[in-house]
Amino acid sequence: MSEWSREDRYQRYEDVSHEELHQLQEQVSASKYRQIFHIQPQTGLLNDPNGLIYFNGMYYLSHQWFPLGAVHGLKYWFNFTSKDLVHFEPQGPILKPDTIADSHGVYSGSAFEYNQQLYYMYTGNHRDDEWNRHSSQMIAKMNEDGTITKFPKPVISQPPQGYTQHFRDPKVFKHNESYYAIIGAQNEVLNARALIYKSNDIVNWELLGDLTTQLTEFGYMWECPDYFNLDGFDMLLFCPQGIEAQGEKFNNIYQSGYIMGQLDLTTMTMNHGDFIELDHGFDFYAPQTFIDEHGQRILIGWMGLPEINYPTDEDGWAHCFTLPRELTIEQGELKQRPIKALQQLRFNKETALGYANKFTRQLQPYDGTQYELIIDILENEATEIYFELRKNKNCSTLISYNTKTHKLTLDRTDSGLLPEPVMGTTRSTTLDTPLRQLQIFVDTSSIEIFCNDGERVLTSRIFPTEQADGIKVSTESGQVYLQLTKYDLKVGEQ
Ligand code: FRU
Repeated sequence: MSEWSREDRYQRYEDVSHEELHQLQEQVSASKYRQIFHIQPQTGLLNDPNGLIYFNGMYYLSHQWFPLGAVHGLKYWFNFTSKDLVHFEPQGPILKPDTIADSHGVYSGSAFEYNQQLYYMYTGNHRDDEWNRHSSQMIAKMNEDGTITKFPKPVISQPPQGYTQHFRDPKVFKHNESYYAIIGAQNEVLNARALIYKSNDIVNWELLGDLTTQLTEFGYMWECPDYFNLDGFDMLLFCPQGIEAQGEKFNNIYQSGYIMGQLDLTTMTMNHGDFIELDHGFDFYAPQTFIDEHGQRILIGWMGLPEINYPTDEDGWAHCFTLPRELTIEQGELKQRPIKALQQLRFNKETALGYANKFTRQLQPYDGTQYELIIDILENEATEIYFELRKNKNCSTLISYNTKTHKLTLDRTDSGLLPEPVMGTTRSTTLDTPLRQLQIFVDTSSIEIFCNDGERVLTSRIFPTEQADGIKVSTESGQVYLQLTKYDLKVGEQ
């Protein structure tokens, strides 16, 4: 299906025949871009991570899901469980659009524990006969047997006076025995806002107010807000829409980042520093955080963006999650590192120590299409270093680093097929300190680059041919002495 009518987009999954679903499933399985160690949709489109929680010894991770094709249509939540955040068991649709308030989509939301039970708070998206949007916030409880019971009516039935129907993505957090929900909103003069509600019984929610920050005119909508305290700092994550690009910053269609400081819930004011992007690659949006079994704050994002077409669309699926990242604050800076449990995926270790210069050819036997590559830079006298991955005669995904400016650039001009519209084919970030290390995760159709042990991350989808499996290091001039460690990655038994 190439043109999707409104009817097609709002068709219910339950009304589609087994044969049709089976056919779609076959089409998706045959896609050459299927990932091996990332959460991806079994069919159709995945977007935001939803309801992430570690509860009773198990991780629950859901995603926004339109099952019937690679477009944004009638949204469900599809749930996975996991014991380790590395192996995932698909559990199927967990929240379905089956009440009036969520008839046009079970939109994003979060999980929380109340009286030792697991609950979800999410946005019900309803369209009336004139196709006007009505947003409400709903709660569902997970029963002992894993089934779901929705509360009979929304707990917040509409946005407060003075706000539009862009009112969604509640993130629930607990503070001093009370429950709070932070919700993305838009006021009537079309400025993006974050509203905070409070409840002591999770049924009655009182509006505490509209959060005051220094960002009074910063986009027209903040999607997917998230609040937490990390190592003594209050962190507010959100996805502003309507921000202009500024040099290296804000080059994707929509942004995803954070402000850091102190939040005062009694005055509803946050004092904070600049808005900082969480990721500097092409494909990152709508992250959500939760606490893992070790008490660490973990972040998972959507490796995709709204309003962009991806090469997998014609195979009947789109997007995946990022790898889980552990967040910490060190010397007042946010660090994001891949979770340690990912080391379980490693097999086949290869290492090399040596010089690279402008003549360096392919480093054999370094090749692959699913691997983790750690590059330690031991001595650098090069003007610019080039790391090329997923490389052959026709393709190359290029990471370049300029020694003088500390600028790191990801160039996917020749990576293979590109998402459309193409909003530039390079993304750059200037590192705070000289490049010492890159830790890179390559899956069939993605690359996640962690720089200097968590200082910066660049996440992108890439769509090279299967034959593009080479790895090459070279320089513009001068030489670099480096150690390469490569592990092939595969998902084995738990
Ligand atoms: C972000 C978002 C959310 C919304 C959901 C709908 O990608 O637009 O604001 O709840 O996706 O799928």
